[in-house]
Amino acid sequence: MSAFTVAIDGPAAAGKGTISRAVAEHFGFAHLDTGLLYRAVGAKGGDPVAVARALTPQDLARDDLRSLGAGEAASRVAAISEVRAALVDFQRDFARREGGAVLDGRDIGTVICPGAEVKLFITASPEVRARRRWLETGGDTGAESFEAVLEQVRTRDARDMGRAEAPLRPADDAVTLDTSEMSIAQAVERAMAVIAARLGRGG
Ligand code: CDP
Repeated sequence: MSAFTVAIDGPAAAGKGTISRAVAEHFGFAHLDTGLLYRAVGAKGGDPVAVARALTPQDLARDDLRSLGAGEAASRVAAISEVRAALVDFQRDFARREGGAVLDGRDIGTVICPGAEVKLFITASPEVRARRRWLETGGDTGAESFEAVLEQVRTRDARDMGRAEAPLRPADDAVTLDTSEMSIAQAVERAMAVIAARLGRGG
């Protein structure tokens, strides 16, 4: 199969990662979690533009990139246009590889891959997303209160949607899935149906 790009965008903890991994596995596509690029730049410290231009596979393999702190640092460096520019080619090359690719992030359907064969915008209410993230961090037995996580979700949403460079928004031709009232299984099923329909039309 030739190149086939699935762009999956949406706010923090909407379910993009889980849906992306599931559809990549199902259709045999490669998967790139583009948030990891920004997390790695934010986590490394120093001059974010220089770090983004010289990002290495080891930087992406750090085991602390999923922390709330790394997410916060990521959303700060992600507002810098030179940082975003430094990461474009890597993402586009990944997207056009033979055999299909799924990329999830904030600007895949709008900026990185405006010609993607499938564009999904995965969202859910801030409360539902904060609850998911809070449970991931350990819930009642974890270090974070639900209120603190909700506050971080709202801050990050505002920063990601309000920035001048590649703000988070659905592409005009994206299919939006609001997963507030869906189980993960239901959301994955809906996403797969959209992709299968597009592949069926000659991919
Ligand atoms: O997993 P979660 O949705 O919380 O975060 P992520 O996808 O790892 O992204 C972390 C931060 O990186 C986001 O809040 C964005 O500010 C930034 N990001 C971006 O600007 N563009 C992307 N394509 C991916 C992430």
